[in-house]
Amino acid sequence: MSKLCIQGDTRLVGDVKISGAKNAAVAILPATILVEGITIIENLPNINDVAILNEAIISMGAVTKFLDLHTLEIDATTIYKYSATEPCISKMRASYYLLGALLGRFKKAEVAMPGGCDFGGRPIDQHIKGFRALGANIEIEDNIIKINADRLIGTRIYLDMVSVGATINIMLAAVLAEGTTTIENAAKEPHIVDVANFLNKMGAKIIGAGTDVIRIKGVSKLHGGHYNIVPDQIEAGTFMLIAAATKGDICVRNIIPEHMDSLTSKLREIGVTLIEGDDYIRVIWKQKLTATQIITLPYPGFPTDLQPQMLVSLLQAQGVSTIVESIFDNRFQYVDELRKMGANITIDGTKASIEGVDTLYGANLVATDLRAGAAMIIAGLVAKGTTTIDNVRYIDRGYEDIEKKLTALGAQIFRID
Ligand code: UD1
Repeated sequence: MSKLCIQGDTRLVGDVKISGAKNAAVAILPATILVEGITIIENLPNINDVAILNEAIISMGAVTKFLDLHTLEIDATTIYKYSATEPCISKMRASYYLLGALLGRFKKAEVAMPGGCDFGGRPIDQHIKGFRALGANIEIEDNIIKINADRLIGTRIYLDMVSVGATINIMLAAVLAEGTTTIENAAKEPHIVDVANFLNKMGAKIIGAGTDVIRIKGVSKLHGGHYNIVPDQIEAGTFMLIAAATKGDICVRNIIPEHMDSLTSKLREIGVTLIEGDDYIRVIWKQKLTATQIITLPYPGFPTDLQPQMLVSLLQAQGVSTIVESIFDNRFQYVDELRKMGANITIDGTKASIEGVDTLYGANLVATDLRAGAAMIIAGLVAKGTTTIDNVRYIDRGYEDIEKKLTALGAQIFRID
């Protein structure tokens, strides 16, 4: 098991190139199951979640080949299996997209119950409600979700809450269905638009992605083609917050600045200087940060996936900040680790009060999930002394070459195997 070791109290300066979006990649790979022909996916992030999904579709019969580190050619026409029940499947959240894709293609799917980061209960009732509305029967036996349908027929589906996963999964199941499916109260995240763009490029008829009503007119088949994945909004935000927290000056490149609006407006509010270009944002620390209030919300609100990294940055602010986590009911478990470093954080239900401190001190930490792991890296970069972070596998699930990118910015970070 590897650990990260960080020698902190370093100002990070330089340029960083952001990889393709993890949350788009983990949906687009399963989406290729629906395609008859060869798909070439470019700008795929080189992360563990992508490797697991690639293995999963190979084990179902697809033929895949990496043309380079970030370009994968997939021929899914040879897929013959509609089940994915291996233990690695149940360890990741995004394996739920195999349900929608297999259902769309075979009218049958058997997939292990999804796992992933533990933020309290993460039900998939809205996914199931959507599949049922399209005409599927669903049973859960021995932690395996079993779905079958004679026909899938388009209908109107209103999501009880805004769900990224349910929105994409219903799109996947509906692209080859008969008639038109309308998803109301849909999620609007950039990766939802990206998955819809991918499917449309392969011949689907989806309109409205990026708004809260998405209409999917069923087509008889999807054809192959090339697709380039959007940049990762959360990786970009993580590096922007690294600049703010380490009193640094980082140019975050290869991004879509509009995707970062909720973060850029907060950073400006707390005193960070930002320079925006067409595909970059330069983040410059010039003065002590000021405290603020944040509530996490579905896009275009402040993303829950940047909540831990923002919290660590606010430890560098003057005064007391608050963050209300409104998406997940238990996403502050990592705070206990930060307390080992001298952080003064009070949790009251879904609200964290964060008091700025003069100094954080290096400590031995354990990553509790992917984004919390990223937040611990930021804390380690800021802290005096040495920080170690255990459970790096969580971080590897979603950040490509994290040590390499940080080292290029001047960080002293090493992996110990
Ligand atoms: C996705 C992202 C994750 C991000 C989250 C919120 C992927 C692979 N993961 O997760 O990184 O943190 O969006 O932006 O893209 N809910 C239900 N029933 C459902 C579905 C969701 O009650 O059927 C609830 C969830 O428990 C949560 C909220 O709705 O409270 C939002 O969840 P959702 O948007 O579905 O998140 P995920 O798809 O799991």
